[in-house]
Amino acid sequence: MLPRVLCTLPLPEPFASRVALHAEIVNLGAILPEEELVAAVREYRPAVLVPQLRDAVTARVLEAALPELKGVAIYAVGYNNIDRTVLRSHGLVLANTPDVLTAATADCALALILAVARRVVEGDRIMREDSFTGWTPDYLLGVELDGAVLGIVGFGRIGQAVARRARAFGMSILYVPHHQGAECPPDLQDCSREVSLAECCREADVVSLHAPLTSETRHLIDAGALRSMKRTAILVNTSRGPLVDEDALATALEEGWIFGAGLDVYEDEPHAHPRLRTAPNAVLLPHVGSATGATRARMADVCADNVLALLAGTPPPHPVALD
Ligand code: DGY
Repeated sequence: MLPRVLCTLPLPEPFASRVALHAEIVNLGAILPEEELVAAVREYRPAVLVPQLRDAVTARVLEAALPELKGVAIYAVGYNNIDRTVLRSHGLVLANTPDVLTAATADCALALILAVARRVVEGDRIMREDSFTGWTPDYLLGVELDGAVLGIVGFGRIGQAVARRARAFGMSILYVPHHQGAECPPDLQDCSREVSLAECCREADVVSLHAPLTSETRHLIDAGALRSMKRTAILVNTSRGPLVDEDALATALEEGWIFGAGLDVYEDEPHAHPRLRTAPNAVLLPHVGSATGATRARMADVCADNVLALLAGTPPPHPVALD
């Protein structure tokens, strides 16, 4: 009998055509509440669980899958929704899909920076409502990016890819590494400087978040951080929603502590804070950082690599350190 691979949602090709040669794939077709996911795991007894970033893969879910479960291959780069302590204590492996979504996510951060700086969504609404009354010297003024300072919080693959794109717009870079000893790559050294988070918030014209969600990064951008930013500054978040205190951000946007914000991720996803939904200086996207057909297919391919290795009992090509 073939081992089972349990996917919460079906993945794009080439996942199924590659994995089906070695395992029976079961697609739940939904993101289930914990109780129902525990029941599904008990019923299907998968060798590999393939969740999404929206699944709460708790201790109860993982323990219900023992002893058949060999590991978890998440279809995402972020893995804050997986109980890593339980994985480690049972000697299970976690693998993710890094690298292949770097360019798409960095593009999305740039899209938000440009949209907020140049008030693209406000302008679009004005035209659709036919309320543009004609060009004047001070109409719908935005923020100039040429010569501006971009502060990148979390200078990993995606943060660095954002820095490379921003350099082409004439921006210089301040970066806050999210782990000690992280080095600035040689091609970015001439335009980048390492700073503390406090300096980054104080000095940057645009602050873009690229750190993983951990207990240390939850509400990294709180009222204090927002108040310390320039009144002309822009905040962009394409990482995980809870890095930002959304209530404080809504107040910051309403009271003009900062110029604007561009968000792709939310504290209470899939919902944005009600006061952010009505803020004209916020551009809100529905978690589409990696949403291109090519990127999602590459993520499926990498996820298949991880699953096949786990099934074979060999180390997956993209393991996550369970420390
Ligand atoms: C991830 O992979 O973690 C992104 O948030 C979605 O692709």
